[in-house]
Amino acid sequence: MELHVVDDARALAVAAAARVAAVVATRPDALLLAATGDTPIGTYNELARLADDGTLDASRLRVAQLDEYLGLGGDDPRSLYGWMERALLAPLAIEPARIIRFDVTHDDPTSAARSYDAQVRAAGGVDLALLGLGPNGHLGFNEPPSGADAPTRKVRLNPETLRSNADYWRDAVPERALTAGMSVILAARRILVLVSGEGKASILDRMLRSEPDPGLPASFLHHHADTVVLADRDARPDRTPHA
Ligand code: F6R
Repeated sequence: MELHVVDDARALAVAAAARVAAVVATRPDALLLAATGDTPIGTYNELARLADDGTLDASRLRVAQLDEYLGLGGDDPRSLYGWMERALLAPLAIEPARIIRFDVTHDDPTSAARSYDAQVRAAGGVDLALLGLGPNGHLGFNEPPSGADAPTRKVRLNPETLRSNADYWRDAVPERALTAGMSVILAARRILVLVSGEGKASILDRMLRSEPDPGLPASFLHHHADTVVLADRDARPDRTPHA
């Protein structure tokens, strides 16, 4: 695992977008496993800017959802798909045929998870997973405890995740979700984790020091062959290098 510390959230977005663009330049039809949340917003804006100025050709890029709430209608604008559509898919003009999406209308979440896995497999696997770091060390919605082999599945969100998601919801916060499994994330050819803000400093420090531990799912990234963590100075104030 490589750690790069940049000055601020803006520099993080620019550096992350450049890395995504470099992958797409070598593999135009790359499959991007894309996180939602606060952290990647700047990166998605920067990708849209690169596409607008012709630096990034996203015309063949494919995108897979990382996670999705259960209990909302398929087209609910509050869904993570709705979020992703506004932040990434529409600005980069990724049409439905190039999107792998969780089928939340499916009666059986386990079948929806199997269908998602089958689509990722048929697409040749994930080329780049662009992730955020949960306040409790989750990746996607792989809440602690989640082992490295945790499959794509229905999960119940932890109280800490519900509290952090509550900012987005005026009324009831969805408590159940589908998440790409740790097994899908760790099978990605490359992983880029974005960590921004002082609120993430302590969990980032724990992740960097931790042995692989289901109690801190992000710690399994230590075993991944090509993981880069990009943090801003607020999230990594002492700039201690970790290899
Ligand atoms: C979002 C996701 C989550 C977030 C994480 C960090 O699709 O899967 O794991 O990446 O909770 O969220 P933010 O970036 O809002 O701090």
